[in-house]
Amino acid sequence: MQVKKAVFPVAGLGTRFLPATKSSPKEMLPLIDKPLVQYVVEEAVAAGIEQILFVTGRGKRAIEDHFDISFELEAMLQEKGKGEMLQEVRDIAEMVKIFYVRQKQALGLGHAILCSREFVGEEPFAVLLGDDIIDSDVPCLGQLLEVHRKYRGPVLALEKVPMETISSYGCVRTNPISERVFEVTDLVEKPKREEAPSDMAIIGRYVLTPDIFPILERQQPGKGGEIQLTDALLKLSKDEAIYGCLFEGTRHDCGDKLGFLKATVDMALKREEFNGEFAEFLKERLCDR
Ligand code: G1P
Repeated sequence: MQVKKAVFPVAGLGTRFLPATKSSPKEMLPLIDKPLVQYVVEEAVAAGIEQILFVTGRGKRAIEDHFDISFELEAMLQEKGKGEMLQEVRDIAEMVKIFYVRQKQALGLGHAILCSREFVGEEPFAVLLGDDIIDSDVPCLGQLLEVHRKYRGPVLALEKVPMETISSYGCVRTNPISERVFEVTDLVEKPKREEAPSDMAIIGRYVLTPDIFPILERQQPGKGGEIQLTDALLKLSKDEAIYGCLFEGTRHDCGDKLGFLKATVDMALKREEFNGEFAEFLKERLCDR
């Protein structure tokens, strides 16, 4: 069955990026000239997603406004004859069909996914986390969907990370199937370094099936007192095969200040308009050190 629906949990508070996220959603932080969330929506659309559900929360109105029509802005751009900009602004509102549901309490990622149950229905679906911005030739979600088409079950995006950072992620133990595809045999949410089953971390892209919902419904709070998707996936893995895909591409953790800075520089250097003067500026600054 083709995967047409995607869930974006965006109710998180963005505490790693305070004070910028005190009153603005972290998903709206701009990477050069586009909010983070737009990159992730574009990735989903490029992978064939037709409907998106934002699982949103208080203080996240700016996300809804961004994907809505902006009458005043469009009228102004039209009047000033800024046709190209007008088109760009309109395209954002027409990119994909968007739905919203409120996660009334911040009870964790697993709980956020549970809020999408009615939207998802009986189809497999994607989950994309807005902190992870992935720069790749084939959209990361597209790579996962390829694995899903072949093996049918849930698929998690995986990346090998330095062991000293493993406690920031869900971590998996795997059996290799091919160079980039694995069967996941164990999962632990944010393990201590010495208890981690491997250096393979779960990155914020998933293909899931509705089989996860009855488990999430009964899932007790885990790490950090939150209902963890990783814990529910561990339970699911006892009954059905779960796969991991070591995706090709560069992942930036934009929920973190340093990761965000790196992403900004990296993306800017890839843009023709900045790879001259901006690159020179960086070289000069680095020589001065
Ligand atoms: C969530 C998941 C974690 C995963 C991470 C990827 O954690 O719970 O398993 O590794 O996303 O970004 P968060 O970063 O939201 O705390």
